[in-house]
Amino acid sequence: MTETTLNKSMDELVALCKRRGFIFPASEIYGGINGFWDYGPLGTELKNNLRDAWWNDMVKSPPAGPDGEPISILGVDSSIIQHPRVWEASGHVAGFNDPMVDDMETKKRFRADHLFGLWICDTEQEALATRKSIRDVNFTPPMRTAVASTSGEAWISFVSMKFDKKRRQAEWNEAKKLIVFDRGSSYGFVVQITEQQLSQYLSEIPSPFSQEKGDLTPPRMFNLMFETYIGAIRDDDAKSYLRPETAQGIFLNYKNVLDTMRVKMPFGIAQIGKAFRNEVTPRNFIFRSREFEQMEIEWFCHPDEAKQWYDYWCEVRKNWWFSVGLTGDNIQMREHENDELAHYAKQGCGCFDVEYRFPFTAPGYGELEGVADRTDYDLKQHQEHSGAKLEYFDQEAQVKGKEEGLDKDEINKRSRYLPHVIEPSAGLSRGVLAVLCEAFTPTPERKGSKFVMNFHPRMAPIKAAVFPLVNKDGMPEAGRKLYDKLRTKYAVQFDVKQSIGKRYARMDEAGTPYCFTIDSDTLSDQTVTWRERDTAEQGRINIEQVGQFLADKIGV
Ligand code: GAP
Repeated sequence: MTETTLNKSMDELVALCKRRGFIFPASEIYGGINGFWDYGPLGTELKNNLRDAWWNDMVKSPPAGPDGEPISILGVDSSIIQHPRVWEASGHVAGFNDPMVDDMETKKRFRADHLFGLWICDTEQEALATRKSIRDVNFTPPMRTAVASTSGEAWISFVSMKFDKKRRQAEWNEAKKLIVFDRGSSYGFVVQITEQQLSQYLSEIPSPFSQEKGDLTPPRMFNLMFETYIGAIRDDDAKSYLRPETAQGIFLNYKNVLDTMRVKMPFGIAQIGKAFRNEVTPRNFIFRSREFEQMEIEWFCHPDEAKQWYDYWCEVRKNWWFSVGLTGDNIQMREHENDELAHYAKQGCGCFDVEYRFPFTAPGYGELEGVADRTDYDLKQHQEHSGAKLEYFDQEAQVKGKEEGLDKDEINKRSRYLPHVIEPSAGLSRGVLAVLCEAFTPTPERKGSKFVMNFHPRMAPIKAAVFPLVNKDGMPEAGRKLYDKLRTKYAVQFDVKQSIGKRYARMDEAGTPYCFTIDSDTLSDQTVTWRERDTAEQGRINIEQVGQFLADKIGV
């Protein structure tokens, strides 16, 4: 496995994904549609492998709990469109908003909190000195403005100066609000303009696009949910939404699962499915798209046990990403600061992100999954808005409390409560991107293949290929026999066309761990050549041993 995603070219990876049938732009023949992607044959297999690994490791065979006892997680598959009041109760109608600013001249729209003031100074000393003295934005020249696409991921500078990528990310992580940069002989610093400052000094702030003052509108809230209408009449009563997270479908079914599955607290409900967000700036391939898939668990527990389960899930989820092939320092955990927390997360015990070092964030990191303490926020909201009783009654705890002689209040507290929820919420699409980035390895030294996708065997869309060296002399028939045998267990490819070098190169880019070649010797001594993807090493084995050889090598 590769150890770092530094220096990997996204352009080359995107081109490989298209060339080998992993991912295509949606509606490509109509010029594409921003923020939407289609998965090709290999991409679909890869996504299914990641999805199945998650489902297997979290739902069918979850890890043991902190006390070593088995835990219970049950699956659901809920509707994408739910009653519109669900989204009022969940807080998404009122709270799932980004403050947006429009440039009236160019009609460009961007997030208000991505607006930055840029001060240019002659020397580094001057930049440092000014930076120290200015804590509030003062709108005097030589200020110019710039916008960043998202929290430091990729800056778009609308002045001629560009930030040094490595340095800006490192400094961004250290001091979010104040960054000094240098570019040869130019020095300066950047201050994030708050929404309040923007409103207050609107007429003084130049637009990052036109650099003219007075072109910006005040920040306006823009809801990220896609609206739709149910039935034939398009009025407000018929309005609903495509779900922006799969989580709410779990909360809505919490009581159904509890009542039908004889589960006891603590337990989890899991769901994998599509989510839709009308992202203002979809970008970085499938990293931020408008239609994507999530893999979410809502873990229900007694409020007093929430912290213990929060710590448990942070650890379990971080380790799981290693098990699908992400490596070393490419994964890190980062705790949210209070001003980043979602509307449901608990202050002070809020949210850890599992982050991955994507090539476009490197040396910084981008979110792969959030583990959040949602408290009883959602169940309480749905209880209030729907009138349904969602409390949990624990009869065993009541009996035990009585036996222990506890007072009524204490017995009630232990046995009747609205559960708290710890939520590990992972992006399936973003996970696919991380797995692709990790596997993508340029191989300039290798003859034939320019790139190898060295997927973890569990993730590889094709596990093996069978190649008759030439399409005659009994080789295709012998190859076909081997192929028929292997494909009862694995996704295997059979290919007789083109030179063997080209066929190997294609399998290297598809990330196929092993190829088996049938040649003239096979017919006389029953041996075949095996070739390993990562090293291009080759050897010979008896054709009868191929199945066992593959099972031993890839372990799946
Ligand atoms: N239920 C909680 C929730 O939805 P989130 O942090 O907004 O939390 C969870 O989303 C995960 O979904 C993220 O960590 C990310 O992997 C993925 N995700 C969110 N927005 C996305 C987008 N626009 N495109 C692709 N993946 C996205």
